[in-house]
Amino acid sequence: MNIFYHKTTETAENLLIAMCEAHLPVILPLLEEKVGNKLAGLEADFLAKEGEIRTLYLASGTLRRVILLGLGKEATALSMQKAAFSLVKKLGKKVEGSISLDLMDYSPLRDADKLASLVEGFVRGAHLGAYDVGLFKTEAGTPDRKAIKLTGINICAAAEKLKALEAAAWRGREIALSQCNIMDLLNLPGNKLFPEDFAQKAIESGKACGYEVSIMDKAAIQAAGMGALLGVNQGSAAPPVFMILEHKGVGENLKKVALVGKGVTFDTGGVSIKPSTNMYYMKSDMGGAAAVLGTMELAAKLKLPVHLIGIIPATDNKLGENAIVPGDVLTSYSGITIEVEDTDAEGRLILADGLSYVIQNHQPDVVIDLATLTGACVMALGYHAAGMFTANDELAAALTAAGQSAHERVWRLPLWDDYAPQLHSDVADIKNYGGRAAGAVTAAKFLEKFTHKHPAWVHLDIAGVAFGDAGQGKGKTGTGYGPALLLAYLESLI
Ligand code: BES
Ligand code: ZN
Ligand code: ZN
Repeated sequence: MNIFYHKTTETAENLLIAMCEAHLPVILPLLEEKVGNKLAGLEADFLAKEGEIRTLYLASGTLRRVILLGLGKEATALSMQKAAFSLVKKLGKKVEGSISLDLMDYSPLRDADKLASLVEGFVRGAHLGAYDVGLFKTEAGTPDRKAIKLTGINICAAAEKLKALEAAAWRGREIALSQCNIMDLLNLPGNKLFPEDFAQKAIESGKACGYEVSIMDKAAIQAAGMGALLGVNQGSAAPPVFMILEHKGVGENLKKVALVGKGVTFDTGGVSIKPSTNMYYMKSDMGGAAAVLGTMELAAKLKLPVHLIGIIPATDNKLGENAIVPGDVLTSYSGITIEVEDTDAEGRLILADGLSYVIQNHQPDVVIDLATLTGACVMALGYHAAGMFTANDELAAALTAAGQSAHERVWRLPLWDDYAPQLHSDVADIKNYGGRAAGAVTAAKFLEKFTHKHPAWVHLDIAGVAFGDAGQGKGKTGTGYGPALLLAYLESLI
């Protein structure tokens, strides 16, 4: 999708007028002027609800269509994003060429002091709307395989506003492109995205966006003694990888933030095998890793003045003659021993090595891990917020605020020591399963053990938000959750 900037709407073929419900009476006379006749009755038909679309056709002249786009109760970055998303989903395969978003001085949106953020939201939504989930479809010409015809958006506004709007549109585009990139990672099935493929994608992403990528292969992981990651990988024919991504912004005294993402490219559960219904969703069990990669991309593209280190331990969790079995004991990177009571609690095992590694080798100021970690978190919060676990109130407040502004919300759950005894092991330092009660909390308590009393660590359980109804298909797909939240958080540090 290309974006162009215009000082006028005179050459527009497809004019888009976005409005919230309250704008409707103001807009009508203007519209009548544009289309050259009375539009009696339109108010009854078009209510400007969020994502609502009406197309008016014109018989002659350059202008062929006037498209009305509803923003619902209020014109905000989010309502613009959602409306642009549904616009592109509904009209993207029908309207050829470009659509001109009318933000000229007579537009009711013109006064918005947040016009730039509205444009950012719009461009972001349009790009997400153009995302095509049919990665492996071969049949051309079927309705859902029709290529998108809408190739561009013209932002039309007064000349003096265009520069700021250009910057906002660029930002919206970059955020969306990184989101689309990570949606691909979640949507790729286990047989198309093995850990080494993920590593290859990280290398390409680093080159394209301008951040450093270093990959530890199986031999390096063995040499480093990452026994928890290796344990999970034991049943697999595909070797694990451990990725270290780094973005060092320009400036002095940069905050050093470590991100650790669960990269399980497919989770069968291992010997503690999952039921087969919906097991295919477990191709998305690297949503945390994808969020880390997307955030690295944004930090690099937006040249954020932070020092960001992204850690991705990646493996699949499969069954094989060498697979770990319940009762096995693993020695983690930190030396802490773990009794594996349930091989399906594998995410916390690989994160344990990731957390210890980054804390012991990089001395970060803040550590954030993201993982599609527990079904229990989905039971607690559903699909509308990630579970947040931290003992640091300041960090919790900052992430809560970032989540609100990015509309990728987090909700704090407890991390009290009262839960720790559930992870007691008679034979090892800790066990990886704490029973069914408070499963999301005990998973977090397990991870805490590998943070070595770091004062600013937060765990985000994104099992309910990383993969779901994203409007991209009939079933669940990647949502792109994570990078926008972390970008808002990182920007709050600057
Ligand atoms: N990947 C799953 C968690 C998950 C569940 C993610 C649903 C997304 C949607 C994780 O590895 C897992 O299997 N967790 C177990 C933990 C249990 C064995 C302690 C679970 O949630 O049942
Ligand atoms: Zn599992
Ligand atoms: Zn898992």
